[in-house]
Amino acid sequence: MLETTIAYEQLAIELTAILAQNERDQDNLNALNFALLEDFDHLYRFANLLKMDYDIDADCLVGKFTEIMPGRPTISEHRYPTDNIKRSLNNDTAHPQSILISSIITAAEQQTMNFYMNLANFYKNDYGRKLFSEIALIEEQHVSQYESLKDPTCTWLEGWVMHEYVEAYLYYSMMQDETDDYIRCIWEDHFYMEIAHLKLATSLLKKYEGKEYTDLFPEPDFPKLIKFGENKEYIRKVIASTVRLTGCGEDYCENTELPEDSYFFRHQRTLNGDVECVPSHDVINRAIDKLGKDYRYQDSPHPIEELGDRKEDNTTVGREGMFKNEEE
Ligand SMILES: [Fe+2]
Ligand SMILES: [Fe+2]
Ligand SMILES: [Fe+2]
Repeated sequence: MLETTIAYEQLAIELTAILAQNERDQDNLNALNFALLEDFDHLYRFANLLKMDYDIDADCLVGKFTEIMPGRPTISEHRYPTDNIKRSLNNDTAHPQSILISSIITAAEQQTMNFYMNLANFYKNDYGRKLFSEIALIEEQHVSQYESLKDPTCTWLEGWVMHEYVEAYLYYSMMQDETDDYIRCIWEDHFYMEIAHLKLATSLLKKYEGKEYTDLFPEPDFPKLIKFGENKEYIRKVIASTVRLTGCGEDYCENTELPEDSYFFRHQRTLNGDVECVPSHDVINRAIDKLGKDYRYQDSPHPIEELGDRKEDNTTVGREGMFKNEEE
């Protein structure tokens, strides 16, 4: 269960990084870069649980493709619900690649959320169950954020065509990227099934709404395929530039710019009044107690100095504005 979790977080990170580098819509891009750091932090928290409870090094599981170190600390990811809802795309003017990206990432976050919510209760100890439960709710925030990017005026049949198109695109991408022949056949088989679904959905779109599927895809170019690889440098750059951001209505801002009575700080004070009780940080304190320092896999020092200490868990980066206000 925990090893699968490591894979989910690695996928969330790598897929987000790949999609962000293919995204031309600024709102979508901001959303991707914003949530990227949060899944990056989750990977670190779960990897510490894995090391502590099973003595397994997660760097072997991630194939050394993804660094394992803190991102935006999970404690700073708890936001008031309205700060997770963003401006939506307009399907009449958005590039098809942007519509595709918002659908793919919504589905990935949704699957991750469901996995954690369904399995959180089955983890073998209390601090692990709490960690899964806390992070499941951050994934819920990610689902809400990404889902809000999608055009809410899209009809049911347009949405259906788009879903089938997304599935066909993903299987086609995996087919091209897969090096194992046996697994490649599975992607191929599923690709053909999705093509059949897509044809059925487009015929119903024409029959009931009188629309051609080409109306939904005005650009003749086939979107760039997903190709997995290393994104370490991109991710480091995003950490350095966005770690202190939080949601601010439909936008993002440095948390230090928020007024004391902002939704974010009020929510933080209510939820995280007692830092000792936050499971995502409790797990690191336990790991430090047991192992002498936290578990990490990094190529070079952390780009954010405050997150570099392996013997002391940081709970302030990303919400430091709250303490600045308190000092004043
Ligand atoms: Fe995550
Ligand atoms: Fe996520
Ligand atoms: Fe399908």
